[in-house]
Amino acid sequence: MEAIRTYERRISVETDVTPKKLLLVNLPNDLDELMICRLDTERKVVEPCSIVIFGASGDLTARKLVPALYHLFKDQQMPAALRIVGLARREKTDEAWRAELRGALGEFSRTQPVDDAVWRDFAANVCYCQGDLTDSASYVRLRQKLEAFGQPELRRHLLFYLAISPSQFGPAVEQLHQAGLLDREGGTGWQRVVVEKPFGHDQVSARALNAELMRFLHEQQVYRIDHYLGKETVQNILMFRFSNSIFERVWNRETVDHVQLTVSEKLGVGERGGYYEEAGALRDMVQNHLLQVLALVAMEPPVSLEAEAIRDEKVKLLKSIRFPQPEQVVRGQYLRGMMDGKPQPGYRQEARVNPHSSVETYVALKLFIDNWRWSGVPFFLRTGKCLPLSASEVRVQFRPTPNVLFAAACGPKLDPNALTLRLQPDEGISLRFNGKIPGAAVGVRPVRMHFSYDAEFGAYTSEAYERLLLEAIAGDATLFIRRDEVETAWQIADAVRAGWDGKPLANEEFYAAGTWGPAAADELLARGGHTWRHPQPVK
Ligand code: BG6
Repeated sequence: MEAIRTYERRISVETDVTPKKLLLVNLPNDLDELMICRLDTERKVVEPCSIVIFGASGDLTARKLVPALYHLFKDQQMPAALRIVGLARREKTDEAWRAELRGALGEFSRTQPVDDAVWRDFAANVCYCQGDLTDSASYVRLRQKLEAFGQPELRRHLLFYLAISPSQFGPAVEQLHQAGLLDREGGTGWQRVVVEKPFGHDQVSARALNAELMRFLHEQQVYRIDHYLGKETVQNILMFRFSNSIFERVWNRETVDHVQLTVSEKLGVGERGGYYEEAGALRDMVQNHLLQVLALVAMEPPVSLEAEAIRDEKVKLLKSIRFPQPEQVVRGQYLRGMMDGKPQPGYRQEARVNPHSSVETYVALKLFIDNWRWSGVPFFLRTGKCLPLSASEVRVQFRPTPNVLFAAACGPKLDPNALTLRLQPDEGISLRFNGKIPGAAVGVRPVRMHFSYDAEFGAYTSEAYERLLLEAIAGDATLFIRRDEVETAWQIADAVRAGWDGKPLANEEFYAAGTWGPAAADELLARGGHTWRHPQPVK
């Protein structure tokens, strides 16, 4: 285990390349490093560059982006030369912005205490540019700031991170173009634009947004974020499926009975009521995170590990999802209840929420994938706020044994085999099968084989945003969403929403905070003889 960590560190420190696509084979601890297969043979170099953050005063910058950049710097994964420029409307000095970021880091850094020596070195590369996104003078000021950087790469290799509202993406990109800061032809170094979600609010608006961006950018310059793709466990889905010979063989309609994908959250919407009123669980979670995970779980093997090959297969999978009928969709909204012994207000009582809102905080879906591999296999997806536990997992439930021998004797008590990919927390993979209870009496019960990231590789700490920022700097789009992918995912979300658009929530669509959602979600599975298996905390 220690050998693996050292090896990872050595790659990033000595060679100044990202440790991308490092395949950590699940080995007993005494096997040596030679068994580790590195796939990044092309040695991706991270070139000196400037990162410009639009929305520098925002929550995302403070909570995610700056802590991620600080840790990449601390782990010596950043390019040899780097500048970070924050752009926002408020007037402030470089020092004032740095002090703000230092405060936020104290609160949100995943490593504590913050290393002040590292912070000082990091902060020396950070500066602020006051600017209104709609005002062309701001972009001139930004250009001047960038031009003042001595090293040519810092002026020509530019990563623009748009942590701003989607309605501002188009205007900001147009202004960048007019200020001569974006070169579509790539003649002068490289320029890339990272866009945050939500990318549109339906397929029509996503298409319009794409068209707006494409006026000034090539698709290869656009990095659409879905932070779930930055999670190690989500990336491991492809490794798990396509680097092992035993699982892929059973990954089809012959052996899989159904699949359950759960992304449950304990928290309510909290301070984000205003945003959530526009989004709801379908747009906030299903259209992006859940469909992305589903695509990785169900897609065909790509022809290579190149970004386009992987994304081609994901799009193909998304396109083969049959639009669900209204009876395959359940929505819900949390009512007041108790969470961990504390009273939790109902969604309608949250700040900036319409007291008559019909926005969904819970969605469950039964989807079918119309392709050769998955025909007839239901995929149940659910996500919600104020559920009893925060956990994301994929449970692949296999078909029961024939109704003879133990199955005939035990009936429904004989548990079907299941493989659970625990995406978070307690990251790992479990295989559930039946075993004989020791003793003279013949008894059977489910037992579990469990792989835990923590036990195997040591506590895993890297944040999704660290990985994604590094990939964007390195120019690898594998973990970002392509134009056709985002549009196809919206088409599915739109079809789901069509069933309830404009309809107020009915009484039975509410659920008490702290419960597993409306009863209709259980009925959705019960109709086919299934039951939800709720994630369990690992003891
Ligand atoms: C975000 C959603 O994209 O993902 C939030 O906007 C949600 O509503 C969050 O809470 C969940 O992310 P994670 O990484 O905590 O599972």
